[in-house]
This record gives sequence, C-alpha cells and structure tokens, in this order.
Amino acid sequence: MPRGCARVAGPQERGTFMPTGQKDKPLKVLIRRSAIEERVLEVARAITRDFKGQRVHLIGVLKGACIFLSDLVREIDLETSIDFIAVSSYGKGKESSGQVRVLKDLDSSIEGLNVILVEDILDTGLTLSYLLRVLQQRKPKVLRVAALLDKPSRRVNNVQGDYVGFTIPNEFVVGYGLDYAERYRNLKDVCILNVPPPP
Ligand code: IMP
Ligand code: MG
Repeated sequence: MPRGCARVAGPQERGTFMPTGQKDKPLKVLIRRSAIEERVLEVARAITRDFKGQRVHLIGVLKGACIFLSDLVREIDLETSIDFIAVSSYGKGKESSGQVRVLKDLDSSIEGLNVILVEDILDTGLTLSYLLRVLQQRKPKVLRVAALLDKPSRRVNNVQGDYVGFTIPNEFVVGYGLDYAERYRNLKDVCILNVPPPP
C-alpha cells in the first residue's frame, strides 16, 4: 500500500485505498511506483541512445508532467536543458474543454534544438496536436514527444508519442503528477479515481 495512505480494503496494491487527508474518494492503484520507476529508466535509456552525443531540451507541460520530467531528466545521460509550458485544456473536473490556451510560454527559443515535449498523459490528443503545431513553428531541429501514459481509445486526433511509458485503458487516473481538480498529484502510484467503495 502506498506510504501515506490508509488501507480501505483488498490485497496490497490491488485494493482500494484512501489517501491520507483526502478521505472522500476511493482510489485504486493502476501502476505501482516500482513499475513507474523501471519504465522511466527504460524511456531515459531510449532517449540517451537515440540522441547519443547530442544535447536534448526537455519541455514539460505543466503541471501534470512536472514529476515525470523530474525523474526522467535525472536518468538521461546526455547534456540536457529544461523548460516548461503551461496550457489549459481541462477545467477543474474530468472533461476536456476542447479549447487549448497557453497560460505560460517557454522562457527561451527552441530554434535548432533537439526538443522532447514531456506530457503526463495523451488522452484525446487535442493538447498535444496544438502544442506540436505551436512548437514546430519555432523551428526546433527535432521535435519528439515523451508521455508517461497513453489512452489511445480516447484519441480524436491522429497524434502519438515517440516515447510512451504505459498504455492504459479508458479510466480517469491521478497521481505521479496527474490531478483531479488540482488534487492527488503527490501520490507515488498512478491510481484510478472513482472506484466504488467496497461493500
Ligand atoms: P488531451 O488534450 O485530451 O489529450 O488531454 C491532455 C491533458 O488532459 C493531460 O495533459 C492531462 O492534464 C489531462 N488528462 C487527460 N486524461 C487525464 C486523466 O485520466 N487524469 C488526469 N488528467 C488527465
Ligand atoms: Mg490536468
């Protein structure tokens, strides 16, 4: 069971639990922290291999990607730099507004750089296709996408990640940076929200 969480029911790592201090919504672990750690390492190794001898510039999409980016960049064995962009694509809840807006732009130019856009999750793909369009106009040398999670069944745009951590079913997930109404980002596991409580 994740540290900082009180067990509600079920076997370790498969049952529902309540995160301490957030007692109203039961959660179910979908991807354990150990699996995330392993996969982040594999993704970082793939990036290190693909860009051997070069510098990579990681752009994290705030806020969801901040934890994935932090873990990923420390496992990349290359010269790196990082920047962040913030967009709004979802309101406070679980439904996409369908509208993407830049809330915080990059601090510096990406012209001529090997850019890896780091996303928490690819869902409908609306955010990613918007960001790819915007960033491509700024003439990076290479533009790739690393996403911790991918929900391909939800896709409305034909976009995909170059480095994907996990392909997951159509569930709303929180933790490891992902939120519901700004909460749960601090969970170490990726969890499914809204599991009915056990009888
Ligand atoms: P898209 O534009 O529909 O692909 O949505 C991308 C953004 O929506 C992600 O970067 C997340 O911030 C958010 N999002 C999509 N699915 C989930 C989810 O299951 N949990 C939490 N946030 C999500
Ligand atoms: Mg979000």
